[in-house]
Amino acid sequence: DTVGSGALEFEPIDPVPFETDAVTVPAGYTWNPILRWGDPLFHNSPDFDPSHPNAEAQELQFGYNNDYTDIIVTDRAGREGLLVCNHEYTNRDIMFEPTASDAEELEVIRTMIAAHGFSIVELERKAKRRNWKYVRGAELNRRITGNTEFVFDGPAAGVALLQTAADPEGMFPHGTLGNCSGGTTPWGTILSGEENFNGYFKADPNAVGSARYGLSDADTSYAFEKVDPRFDATTADYANEPHRFGWVVEIDPSDPTSTPKKHTALGRFKHEAANVRVDDEGNVAVYMGDDERFDYLYKFVAKRKYVEGARKHNLKLLSEGDLYVAKFTGEQRPDNANLGTGEWIALTENGESVVPGMSTEEVLVFTRLAADKLGATPMDRPEDVEPNPITGKVYVACTNNTDRGVKAGKPGPDAANPRKANKDGHIVELTEHKNQADATTFSWDLFLVCGDPDDAGTYFGGYDGPVAPISCPDNVAFDSKGNLWISTDGAPSALKLADGLFRVPLTGDERGKVAQFLAVPNQAETCGPVIHDADGSVFVAVQHPGEDGSWDDQQSYFPDYVAAGSRPSRGEWRGPRPAIVQVTKKRN
Ligand code: FEO
Ligand code: CA
Ligand code: CA
Ligand code: CA
Repeated sequence: DTVGSGALEFEPIDPVPFETDAVTVPAGYTWNPILRWGDPLFHNSPDFDPSHPNAEAQELQFGYNNDYTDIIVTDRAGREGLLVCNHEYTNRDIMFEPTASDAEELEVIRTMIAAHGFSIVELERKAKRRNWKYVRGAELNRRITGNTEFVFDGPAAGVALLQTAADPEGMFPHGTLGNCSGGTTPWGTILSGEENFNGYFKADPNAVGSARYGLSDADTSYAFEKVDPRFDATTADYANEPHRFGWVVEIDPSDPTSTPKKHTALGRFKHEAANVRVDDEGNVAVYMGDDERFDYLYKFVAKRKYVEGARKHNLKLLSEGDLYVAKFTGEQRPDNANLGTGEWIALTENGESVVPGMSTEEVLVFTRLAADKLGATPMDRPEDVEPNPITGKVYVACTNNTDRGVKAGKPGPDAANPRKANKDGHIVELTEHKNQADATTFSWDLFLVCGDPDDAGTYFGGYDGPVAPISCPDNVAFDSKGNLWISTDGAPSALKLADGLFRVPLTGDERGKVAQFLAVPNQAETCGPVIHDADGSVFVAVQHPGEDGSWDDQQSYFPDYVAAGSRPSRGEWRGPRPAIVQVTKKRN
């Protein structure tokens, strides 16, 4: 039973047992890595050589653990493109051999800082529907790392809470860390969320916000504080350094000399992603999840409207506007076909705090503390939140929350988060009042309540035929027809199945009919995804393959799969490399 259409018609794959170290694609399809960790991006980049950790080399090579990804076609013939992706975090134990001395370890740490951030890389291909190849040394190629200079933008730029000894102006933070998912804006820039930034800092556990943001004074597992004092925020000089992370960043990939921004108007939390919607009146909304158990869904509404073609104007849209947090009200119905209404509660109005007892800068820097005061609905870890470009409806992937109704002092199930000990996650479908991006009320329903379809409590958009098991929805994307594509992160522990990529129609007779397109290798998470259905291609970022292994006990050999048991030849690497993969139909 094939699904999809045209160049991307496919026969769904069967669920893949977890621990399978392979990329599984539909019959008649093939996969190909475009860029792997360590691939040289510039003419002067050294070759990949994990036996000799070297920060300077890594700054000139593709980074680690790719998550948000876009492939932007840049010429009319469809032969030139731009790949943009972020590098969320590093897995030290599988990247590099244990070192013999502290001095050697310092270079490993510097190399890990350089493996974070972003890569922007030009692509080329011979014709449409062929495989993309990256262009080493191309003009727009760029690496952004944990050290690159950014500039703060918006109402909290320069405030005391962002000042440190190295940056008394509070304007120029260095680097971006923990970038998870993201979005490409209608004006051609890339947004990405700084998510688990707390793991990079030692901080005073009694400082404002430390407990709520998960900061402690323990040594960090990344150990960046051993090479750069700013990562030790227990000192007076760098007490504010953690405040300089946890933002939405914006990068202009068309200008390799541009300074990337951190947008204070969009608040500070464990930003999973940021996706823009422009409605029919030009109103601009940015939808954002705070990925933590019992944390919130947010929306930013820009003060000014989007103007088609006015790039300079549009590049400033995220500088000014208001921040809202979501409150869901609703009804529990049989089979979890729940629905209800909701409210966007303002944290700021006309750019200024309306939260009792908090200044504007406090609301923006300690956004979680502000939202706690307003009665927002604690969600089951909101990950990617993305508007459907055709209908404007917004899809909120709540990945899981095994603490719901279990952990003392925390909320039990509610209409929008309907299950106790939610291990499989769900997807909320949200419709703004009158479909306006700046609405302050909305209606909603549960589109998917994930899991094994045989399990009680699962719900598949009302579809009652067979569907694929799916668990832990994370990143989402749309194809040109408005079907939803869902990538997963966590299915191995929830369903004992490999994580994968799934397609599901949102309308018509097949609404809710989940079909699986691919599965990722052992211990990997499916990121991206990018769906170019008209062009017959799907792209995924394979993140953290083999992450539970060690240097001597690698658990994945993706994507090169140097024959198991064979001796690696000189310079060859026998471990996993996070990579961006293109999936296309086989050419006969
Ligand atoms: Fe980095 Fe929320 O996943
Ligand atoms: Ca994620
Ligand atoms: Ca997405
Ligand atoms: Ca996740």
